Amino acid sequence: MFQNKTVIVTGGANGIGKSIVQTFANAFANVVVADVDVDAGKTLEKQLLASGKQVFFVETDMRKEEEIRRLVEFTIQKYGGIDVLINNAGISKFIPLFEMSVAEWDDILNTNLRSAFICSKEAARFMKETGGSIINIASTRAFMSEPNTEGYAASKGGIIALTHALAASLSPYHIRVNSVSPGWIHTGDKSELSERDHKQHWSGRVGEPADIARACLFLANPKNDFISGENITIDGGMTKKMIYEE
Ligand SMILES: NC(=O)c1ccc[n+]([C@@H]2O[C@H](COP(=O)([O-])OP(=O)(O)OC[C@H]3O[C@@H](n4cnc5c(N)ncnc54)[C@H](O)[C@@H]3O)[C@@H](O)[C@H]2O)c1
Repeated sequence: MFQNKTVIVTGGANGIGKSIVQTFANAFANVVVADVDVDAGKTLEKQLLASGKQVFFVETDMRKEEEIRRLVEFTIQKYGGIDVLINNAGISKFIPLFEMSVAEWDDILNTNLRSAFICSKEAARFMKETGGSIINIASTRAFMSEPNTEGYAASKGGIIALTHALAASLSPYHIRVNSVSPGWIHTGDKSELSERDHKQHWSGRVGEPADIARACLFLANPKNDFISGENITIDGGMTKKMIYEE
């Protein structure tokens, strides 16, 4: 399905992004991994190259416009085009409201939201030639909140709105733009999780990175080109679960 197709995954060195990289590499795509974590990015590149996959790591700080431009240029030079962009890079920083500085707010918004705007714009300049798919990783925190999560929640709410705005602007070029909103996706050791963690979900389990990666593969599939501007929530039912205290 993705043979000779090129996929950029931002924040692809760890966690959910790493699973997305592995999933597209297994589907025979050329995968470009953009991340600030050079050790993890290079290790992943080495592992996947050794198993015959096409992977290329580009050190990129997604807060910096010039580094995003360089990422896109490297990708075009190496593979000649971009078919899929997955804006996944993000930080989950939760800072108490009255302690949060404007600089901290800006850093969260620049990492999680502004990066997706810049990267989509720069990649779409080339994707326009052939059409393609952009997938933004949002969060169920775009729709519901715990206290002291203003910056993160606003960044993810912004991702949902950016997704449908981009879908409108890029539709003449056959570029579809969708988002995926993960709930609790455990990226560490499964043994850290308790029975209570799992059982509170309708799914009976906490999510894992591959749950999100499979949704990205589905959305990127050109056969699914009737889906645009949409968000898919993947959270084991948690945002639909009604909770009143007894
Ligand atoms: N894990 C969850 O439960 C969950 C839930 C909802 C949404 N999300 C979203 O999914 C995405 C991935 O989250 P994760 O849990 O895998 O996190 P993670 O911390 O495991 O991975 C995030 C990756 O992004 C990279 N990154 C951070 N800042 C960057 C920058 N400025 N430039 C480039 N790369 C940068 C990190 O180095 C890391 O490799 C994020 O957007 C996050 O908000 C995660």
